[in-house]
Amino acid sequence: MSDPARILLPLDEGLLALPDGPILFIRPSAEIPQELAAREGFVCEQGFKPVADRLEARGFTVVPVAGGRFSGAMVELTRNRAENMANVARALRLVAPDGVVLVSGNKTDGVDSLLKAVRKVTDISGVLSKSHGKVFWLSGAVPAAFADWEAAAGPKRNPAGYLTAPGMFSPEKIDTGSEMLARYFDKSVKGAVADLGAGWGYLAQQALAACDRIETLDLYEAEYSALEAARTNVIDPRARFHWADVSALGKPATPYQTVISNPPFHQSRAAEPSIGIGFIAAAARILKPSGQFLMVANRQLPYETALEAHFKHWEILEQDRAFKVVRARRPKAAR
Ligand SMILES: C[S@@+](CC[C@H](N)C(=O)[O-])C[C@H]1O[C@@H](n2cnc3c(N)ncnc32)[C@H](O)[C@@H]1O
Repeated sequence: MSDPARILLPLDEGLLALPDGPILFIRPSAEIPQELAAREGFVCEQGFKPVADRLEARGFTVVPVAGGRFSGAMVELTRNRAENMANVARALRLVAPDGVVLVSGNKTDGVDSLLKAVRKVTDISGVLSKSHGKVFWLSGAVPAAFADWEAAAGPKRNPAGYLTAPGMFSPEKIDTGSEMLARYFDKSVKGAVADLGAGWGYLAQQALAACDRIETLDLYEAEYSALEAARTNVIDPRARFHWADVSALGKPATPYQTVISNPPFHQSRAAEPSIGIGFIAAAARILKPSGQFLMVANRQLPYETALEAHFKHWEILEQDRAFKVVRARRPKAAR
């Protein structure tokens, strides 16, 4: 994880003072220094709901997409280079002409190559290294190249015709696992349906196109921009869109007949089966006793214990060298 205090190092070392007025923090981690919450006009832009929720719980003002003018901005790098370039470019545009932009990131998130790219088009005011990463800052006029950086990360139609953007799940090509799962969307998929971790909407759109007995389909997605893309990709009046953290979903007033999912398996670089396990538990919580859960997962991910814990019956419908498709029925009451 990135060092949350690194972004304040230039201020702590007396090399820079934050200007008065509103400050925007793009993609902050959930652990940013608490002192920032006390600043008037301090706004976090965080489109990933679990992190947005944690920041809000700590007293920060959080929006999924910020607009307006700021005196200064901070950017924490994500794992996606195109998104990082666009975030730095947009931060400088939102603070121009005399604001300052601080950028912090780990080496593993590409901070060195980003710094190099920024240096090619504009001057850097300063750089410091800390905790296997760097913080650098810049100010001044927005270089012409930054408009291209912003455009490159924006949503575009992929070769299959879906609106996607860099940083979303499988933006260029439909995921092979999702395609495998979609082949099981038959007449048993009906009534109220939920898609957990719906991304830009591939599975939901396939289900709605194949299953005319679906009454409603709720897309739950944590990443705001992906959900926005899904609103364009899933054009069916039965679809409803929810910016939500699936692992925090409670038991709904009306449980679902079918839950479909290709659960996320990492937030950082390494596989984190606990996220998928949280999705399996959520599926069991929101299903009717007679409902079914259809899921695809990377074959090596250890989900069997969780399926056993949350469902009375489950089976592998198909598996190949990469993926397994699972059907689970008869959810056990939450313990
Ligand atoms: C493997 S992708 C599947 C996307 C889409 N269903 C498909 O098949 O193309 C998993 C999705 O879950 C989302 N996600 C990750 N953590 C989440 C959470 N806690 N709650 C809701 N969605 C989450 C990711 O942003 C990603 O879009």
